[in-house]
Amino acid sequence: MTLEEKVGQLVQRAGGRQRALNSRIDDTELERVRAGGVGSYLHVAGAEPLAKLQKVAVEESRLGIPLLFAMDVVHGYRTIFPVPLAMAATWAPEAQERAARVAADEATSAGLHWTFAPMVDIARDPRWGRIVEGAGEDPYLGSRMAVAQVAGYQGGNTLRPGALMATTKHFGAYGAAIGGRDYNTADISERTLQEVYLPPFYAAARAGSGSFMVAFNDIAGVPTTSNRDLVRGLLRERWGWQGLMVSDWGSIAELLNHGVAADRAAAAVLALDASVDMDMVGDVFAVDLKDAIAKDPARLKLLDEAVLRILRVKEQLGLFDKPMQYHDVERESRELLAPDHRDAARAIARQSLVLLKNDNKLLPLNPAKLKSVAVIGALAGDGRNELGSWKAQGRPEEVVTVLQGITAALPKSVKVTSAPGADPRNNDLTGIPAAVKLAKAADVTLLMIGEDFDLSGEARSRSTLELPPSQLELARAILATGRPVVVLLANGRPLALQELADKAPAILETWMLGVEAGNAVVDVVFGQYSPAGRLPAAFPRVSASVPFYYAGNPTGRPADPDLAKDTVRYHDLPITPLFAFGHGLSYSEFRYSDLAQSVPAVGPGERVDISITVENTGGVASDEVVQLYVRDPVATISRPVMELRGFKRLELGAGQRKRVTFSLTPEQLAFWSPRGQWQVEAGRIDFWIGASSADLRANGSFEISKSHLGTAPATALPTRVTVSNN
Ligand code: NOJ
Repeated sequence: MTLEEKVGQLVQRAGGRQRALNSRIDDTELERVRAGGVGSYLHVAGAEPLAKLQKVAVEESRLGIPLLFAMDVVHGYRTIFPVPLAMAATWAPEAQERAARVAADEATSAGLHWTFAPMVDIARDPRWGRIVEGAGEDPYLGSRMAVAQVAGYQGGNTLRPGALMATTKHFGAYGAAIGGRDYNTADISERTLQEVYLPPFYAAARAGSGSFMVAFNDIAGVPTTSNRDLVRGLLRERWGWQGLMVSDWGSIAELLNHGVAADRAAAAVLALDASVDMDMVGDVFAVDLKDAIAKDPARLKLLDEAVLRILRVKEQLGLFDKPMQYHDVERESRELLAPDHRDAARAIARQSLVLLKNDNKLLPLNPAKLKSVAVIGALAGDGRNELGSWKAQGRPEEVVTVLQGITAALPKSVKVTSAPGADPRNNDLTGIPAAVKLAKAADVTLLMIGEDFDLSGEARSRSTLELPPSQLELARAILATGRPVVVLLANGRPLALQELADKAPAILETWMLGVEAGNAVVDVVFGQYSPAGRLPAAFPRVSASVPFYYAGNPTGRPADPDLAKDTVRYHDLPITPLFAFGHGLSYSEFRYSDLAQSVPAVGPGERVDISITVENTGGVASDEVVQLYVRDPVATISRPVMELRGFKRLELGAGQRKRVTFSLTPEQLAFWSPRGQWQVEAGRIDFWIGASSADLRANGSFEISKSHLGTAPATALPTRVTVSNN
């Protein structure tokens, strides 16, 4: 390869914009491809248009190296699933894997080799708009969801021909942006980095994620795009990951804005040295790398390494042998929105629903007892909104909206009325009186309020977590009727709902549920399916109390409700969140009994099995999410008051009981020591099993008999869970 051809492989160009795919592939662009100046395109799609483009690369460039085609296929390609935060609310990695599998089948049929997902950034500040793209606040849950997505997209832990390569992003601590302002600095301790932000990346690397993407932001002054210690040192050398590292959009060029590179050539060298292989859109490698190498030929070795990593994934995906295998137009038309894909979307959407509140068992509604239903709220009829951030090729007209779902599900004898009332996108309140009139005339009102999809996602941080003003006004007016009201919340982040929760008898969290939104809501509202989703991040009482995560340290003055005592809390706010991490109600009830553990103490290489029986006593078939939390009460450093280390979404028929066993190893209790090692310390470990972090049903403890070093981030390691019928 000539120097130009090598550099060309490192260049990723935009084939369009997010909403105008392929639109930039003009004659000049094709000339670049012929000259071997492009390695990959993003924001492209379609079996046929991409076949044409691939042909140019393969047949008309000197070396005939195929291009890599990429897109943000984040929660579906054409069949759109719930947004990732909602999918995490299933607490069912198998559901997440299935969704990713469907997305991969559709995307690869449409010419794509590569998706920029999963986003595994832990988010503990819900003001950050990208919390919607991840699995929430907890690294253990996040690690399981990360692994499920890699497995789903790639269909295994090594890349194989025909697979969709996953991108685990945004490596570093992107979710720790100060103040929740997207792109902002993360200034966190080494321990928090290692124990909280990095574990899902480790888990995804182990699961074989073919590529990674660096974060836009810096950690304590070092932008990840130029962070040699983190990318080359930790990820590649210590963790042994050898995949393709792509920059984020223009993030190499942005090293100038960060103030760590004086010019673009310096930025190129920093990124290459950190082992960033591909330059997304910035054209810094394309334009400035050659001169930098001419100045210091030793850099050629770094370039060669990057080229090899890129060529290797192309080979693994089978592109050298069969460059056209992703371009089968007939397969594309069969795959997109196939009936079984829609079925999966409905099944997963209803698993995502979280019943936050249900006074006097207002839900489920019995259609036989209803004469009229009012569906109020602009979002209830808004298909686009259900697609959320990163809708890929999702189409609003293919969405079953909540209004459509409800109308179709009810017998003709039930009168369904509807009015927008007020729209979250503006402050026009003039529609409220008409909505109130309908609510007064109806047996029950389904009030759909919340955030518009465009209030979460990239660069969509908010300074407040309150409902948009028009939505709160609408809710106040409808709830003031005194008639039965079920609130259906739509949102991409935890919200501060104190007033709503005080006034509304029932609140169902519906997030943004994708193409089958309306049907999934129907299944739950009318009781065909008992809700069992759980919050992947706590909902605070008021905005100003964030960050507010459950796994905090105990402090010298643990929070006490008694204000006469000086403890770690606000004077004007209860110390608990409004809805805790792991919270979610059911139409049934569950009894936890017969806690047992296999051994009192564990040493290196051993495990303790913790078992409990869960019985569905509420007379309704329902899933229950059983959660295991741990705490190291005395260690050389202060350990969190509780941390998730296992969970299982159980299916339980009415009256059915199952026994769940969690198998823990000492390595899963390791912490990042002041010496920069994973340390397992001898001593007692307490544990709890419960239905949420605030609803603990049983507890016990075991001993770790011997101190020793661990090898991996503790939260990244999976707890083995077995279920038996008894
Ligand atoms: C920027 C975003 O940060 C990243 O997540 C995404 O994959 C790229 N743009 C490409 O769209």
